[in-house]
Amino acid sequence: MRHTKVKDLLNSTTTLQEINAKGWVRTFRNNQFIALNDGSTINNIQCVVDFENTPDETLKRITTGAAVSVTGTLIESKGAGQKYEIQVAKLEILGDSDPEKFPMQPKKHSLEFLRENAHLRVRTNAFGAIMRVRSVLSYAVHSYFQQKGFVYVNTPIITGADAEGAGEMFQVTSLPLDNLPKNEEGAIDYKKDFFGKHTNLTVSGQLEGETFAMALGQIYTFGPTFRAENSNTSRHLAEFWMIEPEVAFNNLDDNMDLAEDFIQYVIKYTMEKCADDLKFLEGRLLEEEKSKPQAERSEMALLEKLNFVLENNFKRVSYTEAIDILRDSTPNKKKKFQYIINEWGADLQSEHERYLVEKHFKCPVILFDYPANIKAFYMRLNEDGKTVRAMDILFPGIGEIVGGSQREERFDVLVEKMKALGIDEEELWWYLDTRRFGSAVHSGFGLGFERLVLFVTGMTNIRDVIAFPRTPQNAEF
Ligand code: 4AD
Ligand code: MG
Repeated sequence: MRHTKVKDLLNSTTTLQEINAKGWVRTFRNNQFIALNDGSTINNIQCVVDFENTPDETLKRITTGAAVSVTGTLIESKGAGQKYEIQVAKLEILGDSDPEKFPMQPKKHSLEFLRENAHLRVRTNAFGAIMRVRSVLSYAVHSYFQQKGFVYVNTPIITGADAEGAGEMFQVTSLPLDNLPKNEEGAIDYKKDFFGKHTNLTVSGQLEGETFAMALGQIYTFGPTFRAENSNTSRHLAEFWMIEPEVAFNNLDDNMDLAEDFIQYVIKYTMEKCADDLKFLEGRLLEEEKSKPQAERSEMALLEKLNFVLENNFKRVSYTEAIDILRDSTPNKKKKFQYIINEWGADLQSEHERYLVEKHFKCPVILFDYPANIKAFYMRLNEDGKTVRAMDILFPGIGEIVGGSQREERFDVLVEKMKALGIDEEELWWYLDTRRFGSAVHSGFGLGFERLVLFVTGMTNIRDVIAFPRTPQNAEF
């Protein structure tokens, strides 16, 4: 007999004869009531065991974590809290779980403990909810771009170009590390490596994405990216997923419009599809915040915060305006910032970004027109000769969630910029070809997917919104 998903049973509009459910025991109370979860929903279904006619041996094996199959009828529940429950006629233990050893006990565990058990943490309410929300968010990403006619491009994960300058890279090699081949100059001979050259894991699909945008018009990538920065923060992963749309003929304003519309769409879509999970996560966050001092608690509950993002335009502010605000801010004057803002040209740290979003504007902010020398080589130079058409989107509680720009479409300006930064023109010959043959204004951005999941779930550590986080000194599982 085929089993029915718990979600479908709970959503049933009638009682049902002869149904089967399979899942994992969350709790077993009074030798009678199983709270069964199968991952299809945050809600458990109550299964009432006929304990008088079930052998003691079997009852003992109904422990938290065990996999069971229950066959019976779906009846209206007499208990509070659920409409339906399963009156169990036949119970089968599919897989035992040693109650002494199973780490996911029905009690509160610390997030640190759960991280060490990332293979089992998904059996908790919070992680089940986070992973379902993450899945729906990814679907929403595709849905948004597909509806708009964007072409999904899979850019390479192994790359021979390491000029993006987005961070430290992980090298990919099949050379024997204990016996490296050397060339005549005594340096490592990468001609003998697998690809005949030095290669890395990609930090971004943008440069390849641009070549496709200059043919297909509107494209997006959605894939894993890798950065070997040794930044052990709650916002950085060494392996994270990025969404990078790139659009021909879009200028920076169009790029901002696209980013804002896109983010609002995926949040709205997820709120509609994941109401139960988000309600649970809102409660979890409220609970967590109780242990924090008043000043650190967020002013809005999770759903209110998500609605706020849907209903309000993102504030667009130039870098120059932002520097003025920061220079005159109380934490700057009182030297509360770790990095004091003294002059135009300073790179913004996450403390500054969060001040702008959380204290000053109190809404998502798009900062644009950054100084050229703190941004990547491919961004379009403004007429002032010192700023570029860059944009970063800053979110409350997160800081930077999007980084993007209008691209430098002028061949000569681009080459000059590359020369000044010591970027090898030969290596990026194919990228420069986009500016040689039919170059045009174009723009794009990168959204850090885990940072979006952080925002939507109200979690605070990026390690808790990806299945198996990769961070410095940690690649377990
Ligand atoms: O600002 P970034 O470095 O931009 C780029 O890579 C461009 N090539 C994007 C483009 O224009 N197509 O990264 C984009 C976003 C950041 O805003 C942030 O959300 C996320 O990627 N990000 C990270 N997320 C998790 N862990 C890390 N180590 C991240 N580094 C960047
Ligand atoms: Mg950035």
